[in-house]
Amino acid sequence: MRKISTSCSTRVAICLVACSALASLLPKAQAADVTLAEKGRYIATAADCLACHTAPGGKPFAGGYPIITPVGTIYSTNITPAPKSGIGDYTKTEFFDAVRRGIGHNGKRLYPAMPYTSYAAITNDDMEALYAFFRSEVAPVEQENRPDNIRFPFSIRSGMALWNWLYLDTRTFQPRPGETSQVARGRYLVDHLEHCGTCHTPRTLFMGPANGRALSGSVVGAWYAPNITTDKIAGIADWTDSDLRNYLTSGHAMNKGQAAGPMAEVVTNSTRFLTPDDVDAMIAYLREVSPIASKEKRSRTSYGSTEPTEDIARGQTNPDDRGWKIFSGSCASCHQAQGQGINVYPSLTHNSATGSTNARNLVATILTGVERQTGENAVFMPAFGPGALWVNRLSDQDIADVSNFILKAFGNPSVQIDARYVEKRRAELTP
Ligand code: HEC
Ligand code: HEC
Ligand code: HEC
Repeated sequence: MRKISTSCSTRVAICLVACSALASLLPKAQAADVTLAEKGRYIATAADCLACHTAPGGKPFAGGYPIITPVGTIYSTNITPAPKSGIGDYTKTEFFDAVRRGIGHNGKRLYPAMPYTSYAAITNDDMEALYAFFRSEVAPVEQENRPDNIRFPFSIRSGMALWNWLYLDTRTFQPRPGETSQVARGRYLVDHLEHCGTCHTPRTLFMGPANGRALSGSVVGAWYAPNITTDKIAGIADWTDSDLRNYLTSGHAMNKGQAAGPMAEVVTNSTRFLTPDDVDAMIAYLREVSPIASKEKRSRTSYGSTEPTEDIARGQTNPDDRGWKIFSGSCASCHQAQGQGINVYPSLTHNSATGSTNARNLVATILTGVERQTGENAVFMPAFGPGALWVNRLSDQDIADVSNFILKAFGNPSVQIDARYVEKRRAELTP
């Protein structure tokens, strides 16, 4: 240090300058870690780790969220840095292997309910940031993991090694020749970080992703994740960029669709926090996805007119139409008598949930309601199923009747369901 002999006041002044210089140096030394962890927070948000690793009403990342699969229920695990029940003792390599290879502690094979096949392509830089975030920013919570109840033979975890051989591509992300940087970023987000295909891509017989039919629609528990390819009829070619932007940032696209169930969780925890550039990149990539047709003859958002339909008129004059009665008693206060909607209450015409070739999203919405966070606002429709708190519960027959009325009057009239259909969806919602 250079000796400086000066008056006291000058020394104070120098010290102030030096101290502030020092102070600005100090945080800078730590800033690299903080910035890395903050970058990791964004990646964890884009990868939606929170949605699966947090039980309803539970502590963030402490696990216990049930994932209902056709072979049994798997509970996500505690990934807080708690030393005993969490991943506090995971080394960086172990953490990388769990996220990108599906290999947990002591070589334990994870089930692909943890979307490591999508995450396998996450870049090393992003993995470093993710690790820094889980090390330093996530609060440790000691909470024991819940055992899964996967049925034999899927309960033999070592069998996953064979599955991985079939379905795990271990290459990290590389832009493709000729791909713009925006489309490449969108592909990295949609196919890898956001793992949109885990719900929207159909599965093979062995539950692997049917990659030849990527994003062409799949069953997710009681719900249906629709075809989001560029197909003119079955896909989302009729959604404008701003429809998609509204949907991914707020969960609602006027006269197109709204996000309930698992998609509401995606919007609430993940897509609404992405930067506008990242949202645009995802849209740019979705526009490049190969079109895949399915059995639809008309686009699912094209059904319904705004004029009073004959069916409504008939319902109103037919006191025996149970569906219409339930609709006017339980639904019309929000969705309006002609199903045209008002304010935040969406129309049931021009609505992908009522125009689909299956009634899953309609029935699951009636059973569970809608709960979604967008900005300061919460979007809410009451549940009419087992969780109903605010309204009378509807029976399977009631829900079949009201659905059939809605499908005929506002949606795809060729789809009609019975009480057994509702009973099955109810069962799929219960772990
Ligand atoms: C779609 C749901 C889902 C998402 C999203 C998800 N996980 Fe998981 N994760 C699971 C499930 C389920 C398990 C337990 C799998 C098992 O028991 O075989 C798991 C297991 C793990 C494990 C192994 C923990 C242990 O107990 O050994 C780690 C680490 C992990 N996840 C980290 C992450 C990170 C980091 C993210 C975000 C980048 C993430 N997960 C996103 C469902 C998910
Ligand atoms: C956890 C499962 C899941 C994941 C992950 C997921 N989705 Fe969805 N998605 C759904 C379900 C279920 C619906 C139907 C929701 C409804 O109608 O209430 C849906 C609906 C949609 C729709 C509206 C389609 C229509 O016709 O109504 C779009 C667009 C969409 N998702 C895009 C995406 C994108 C892009 C991603 C990745 C960022 C993604 N989804 C990730 C399950 C998922
Ligand atoms: C208290 C007002 C209210 C009542 C009562 C109500 N809804 Fe809703 N409904 C909503 C809101 C709010 C949404 C979600 C809007 C959004 O996502 O932006 C919604 C969404 C929907 C959707 C679209 C779901 C999806 O996944 O795309 C359907 C279908 C629906 N309601 C049907 C019904 C039926 C059938 C009834 C009667 C059994 C009913 N609603 C009663 C407010 C209500």
